[in-house]
Amino acid sequence: MEKKKIRICMVGFGNAGRAFCRMLLYKSEELESTYGYEPVVTAICTKTKGILLNTGGLNLQQAIEEAEQRGGFLPDNTGLYQGTVLEAIERSCADVLLELSTLSIFDGQPAITHIEKALDLGMHVVTANKGPIAWAYSRLKEKADSRNRMFLFEATVMDGTPVYNLVKETLPGCRVIAFKGILNSTTNFILEEMEKGASYEASLKEAQMRGFAEADPSMDIDGWDAAAKTAALINVLLKGEVTPIEIRRTGISAITLDEINRARSEGKKIKLLCEGRRTTDGITGIVHPVKLDEKDFFSLIDATSSILSITTDLMGEICIVEKDPEIQQTAYGIFSDFLTILKNISGIRRDYAKQ
Ligand SMILES: NC(=O)c1ccc[n+]([C@@H]2O[C@H](COP(=O)([O-])OP(=O)(O)OC[C@H]3O[C@@H](n4cnc5c(N)ncnc54)[C@H](OP(=O)(O)O)[C@@H]3O)[C@@H](O)[C@H]2O)c1
Repeated sequence: MEKKKIRICMVGFGNAGRAFCRMLLYKSEELESTYGYEPVVTAICTKTKGILLNTGGLNLQQAIEEAEQRGGFLPDNTGLYQGTVLEAIERSCADVLLELSTLSIFDGQPAITHIEKALDLGMHVVTANKGPIAWAYSRLKEKADSRNRMFLFEATVMDGTPVYNLVKETLPGCRVIAFKGILNSTTNFILEEMEKGASYEASLKEAQMRGFAEADPSMDIDGWDAAAKTAALINVLLKGEVTPIEIRRTGISAITLDEINRARSEGKKIKLLCEGRRTTDGITGIVHPVKLDEKDFFSLIDATSSILSITTDLMGEICIVEKDPEIQQTAYGIFSDFLTILKNISGIRRDYAKQ
């Protein structure tokens, strides 16, 4: 008897996409034996490395090696496809779209179009790209709901740390009133290095050398990445309808070593906070550097770690921390959403993991 397959179409095969594929290869047998479905990737779309398409299933290991060692899919790869990304999504016959393309902070595109296309074709969607959540969450969620499809995005804020799932799955009946977080690793790392006495320029260079700050770091430094995360959290947790542009935003570029030293002499630390709040006048969002007492729990969040505190009507304030994330944590956020869909499709709710 032919095995049942759950087909996956990937848009984006960068660090997160390939790390997810490695996790999938590592866990495929367990998934298959628990849920009775073999996960197969039928399409991989990139911007410059080419597109692979085979509805029978691609050779994932080969795709990873070609992307990493040859910088693109080889001309003799039998899956090579010459059409567009939207055509590949359509021809992939996939059950699930993984949207893992580059963030476009000012409009969320073309990821929004990729997701709309997949939902129109009846696919479930998982994304790690916060653009669509920051720019078009309610529209995409409505589309998914109207087609009875799942639209999941745990990795968009704090990687695989359960943020959305924490509220959705473990706080029944609670209404979120406000949140506050340190959610951008580059700025947190730079502020910390400056506290140790390094200049802004040297701290930024160090962050770039370690690979978590972009060559053009302005999206982090000017608070745009944090504003996109704040908008995403407002749209989902506070049920607002904002975009990153509507978030009041101050980055860290104007902060001097003198200011940091003065704060330290007062027993304080400067941190870039993302905040969202529901008030009687509506919903507000802000990203700004704030002086915090050294003993404040948020002051202990160092380097690339992050924290989110959520205030609810019934359960008060709870905090969740992600310590020193790597790409594995992002891959897990995508994998956990994929597993939610697999459980839904197979009707088997138990976890595959052995105790
Ligand atoms: N890395 C993380 O730790 C992390 C954490 C949380 C969320 N995320 C989000 O996850 C997504 C992927 O991150 P990443 O680190 O994997 O990024 P990445 O390494 O830069 O890879 C991005 C991938 O998207 C492809 N791509 C870009 N534009 C495309 C388009 N128009 N059509 C098709 N493919 C396109 C790129 O193609 P080429 O290969 O040809 O360049 C590349 O394969 C981003 O939205 C990011 O913000 C990442």
